[in-house]
Amino acid sequence: MTGASTPSMFAPVSTPAFAIREVSFLVLAIATFIFVVVAGLTVYAIIRYRRRPGDDGREPPQMYGSAQIELAWTVVPFLIVIILFLTTARYIFAIEGRAPTAQALEVTIVGNQWWWEIRYPKLGIVTANELHVPVSDPANPIQTFITLQSADVIHSFWLPQLHGKTDLVPGKTNRTWIEPLVPGTFLGQCAEYCGLQHAGMLLIVTVHPRDEFAQWVAAQQAQAADAPAARAGREVFVSVACINCHTVRGTPANGVFGPDLTHLMSRATIGAGVARNTPENLRAWVKDPTSLKPGALMPAMKLSDDKLDQLVAYLVTLR
Ligand code: CUA
Repeated sequence: MTGASTPSMFAPVSTPAFAIREVSFLVLAIATFIFVVVAGLTVYAIIRYRRRPGDDGREPPQMYGSAQIELAWTVVPFLIVIILFLTTARYIFAIEGRAPTAQALEVTIVGNQWWWEIRYPKLGIVTANELHVPVSDPANPIQTFITLQSADVIHSFWLPQLHGKTDLVPGKTNRTWIEPLVPGTFLGQCAEYCGLQHAGMLLIVTVHPRDEFAQWVAAQQAQAADAPAARAGREVFVSVACINCHTVRGTPANGVFGPDLTHLMSRATIGAGVARNTPENLRAWVKDPTSLKPGALMPAMKLSDDKLDQLVAYLVTLR
């Protein structure tokens, strides 16, 4: 998406992600040291003991067993593993031990094949695939605590610049938190293979300045727009199967299997990031979702072209 930087864990912008980068650098430094020593000794031995003109072709004297050497190659790796284990454990406990403060934002994210439901239980907001959070600053910190659940199979929630991977497991609730220190747009991705559209399960995070976040919240809390010009499309919407799976607050549509559409047009993409949210793409999606996202579980709506046009004319009023 426009304006989003490369989702690299080496470019963190949020508190737990800084710690994760530190551990990564430590592991990388130790692994690099081992590689250089082993590769260096190997290259040295290859050159030093290469075949030379005049060699008689016999093996040099062989050495069998050495208590000192065996002890060294057992103890040194053991110590390295201990260091890595203790350091990692310290970071994990520091991250997982953080309790939400009174002003922390609570978000619940539910993994679905293949999209993310995003709920703000205390704010009464339900949206999908695009997470909005306020920016934190040291003088006035605000974390976002995220409860992770799954509606079907195991997914993994990963925003490389904001935090570490956390799985969404059916029947189990996991928690993670982020505390982004700069506003901006950051990309994430389901990080656990979850079926055909695993790769089509993207996540966009917008970190807002505080006042901008408050505006977003107010806009999302509003009822669905009621555009008189789109009445015909609204009739189509509430008279076909759309309402069994989708919610539009303020209408009879209160299904929960698919994304909440109350403020559909406030989202930049459809199909969990597979296409831009334009009227043309919406039309193609409703006509046959698998044309944009093979395997998508929403059925093709089999509407006539007229009804399709009316329906899309209604959908685009859901700002
Ligand atoms: Cu959800 Cu991979």
